[in-house]
Amino acid sequence: MTDGDKLSQPAAPIRPPPKKTFVRDHELGAFKLVETADGSLTAQFGEAETMHSLRGAFKETVYIYGTALDRARAVVKNPRTLSLGLGVGYVEILSTAYALKAGETPRGESFESVGDLTSSFEAWLQGGDEALVPHSLYDDITRRTSELTSIPASAIRTALAKAVEVQDWSLRPAMTPATTFPMKFHCVAFDAFSSKSTPELWTREFLDHFATAACDPTCVLSTYACTGHLKRALVDAGFTLEIREGYASKRDSTLAERVPASQIWEAGTLR
Ligand SMILES: C[S@@+](CC[C@H](N)C(=O)[O-])C[C@H]1O[C@@H](n2cnc3c(N)ncnc32)[C@H](O)[C@@H]1O
Repeated sequence: MTDGDKLSQPAAPIRPPPKKTFVRDHELGAFKLVETADGSLTAQFGEAETMHSLRGAFKETVYIYGTALDRARAVVKNPRTLSLGLGVGYVEILSTAYALKAGETPRGESFESVGDLTSSFEAWLQGGDEALVPHSLYDDITRRTSELTSIPASAIRTALAKAVEVQDWSLRPAMTPATTFPMKFHCVAFDAFSSKSTPELWTREFLDHFATAACDPTCVLSTYACTGHLKRALVDAGFTLEIREGYASKRDSTLAERVPASQIWEAGTLR
């Protein structure tokens, strides 16, 4: 991006930070925002799992998925990112800023089973009416991402809105074993709820299929989780595992990388 481009971005709307006591009715249970230890907010339906660690939603996203975005960019130019699931959009916003920082356009797909989360995100991007998720939450995530990356908040939102509009970044419904992947991905943010809440996404069978059908031969996959099925499926699919400390020293997390030998050989000085 040139300085001229930055200057031509419309100013980000200035909204007050989201209310930490925000609650809105929803058929899945009251949709609530919950403050986490770094001041960023996570979301929760009823008494279900919160979408992020209470020790810091933004910091967790940067630790688990920012690392994967950096690793993917070290081996592929303009990586395509798969985000499972969209939630309140931390991964999408971070991916966009990292792409802009690298002088690239954001490319990817996000899967989300709750249609109201997807339509809320689209409404924020398109300047539409607020529905389930307060737009001030997306603004807050964008502001934090902007502070981290030095990419203006307005540039992040504009680039992501454009990417969604021209379908460089697609917003897709729930991922199921029947989901097809016309394109494969170089960076995977596997951020579904835990195997207790979404067991169908953590079976050995599904993970075997996913590692082959969704992941490009050159791929970095990251997730806050570290299950036996996941580790075995990734190793069998040719990934090298790095078991990292979980965010905020909780549990182990998984960072896996698959780079074909021919690519390492060609790149020579790649690493
Ligand atoms: C841990 S949260 C994701 C948080 C998100 N990455 C963010 O940055 O806000 C998990 C999300 O996955 C969604 N989800 C659950 N099952 C899913 C499925 N089968 N396909 C797509 N999304 C799913 C949930 O509705 C929830 O929004």
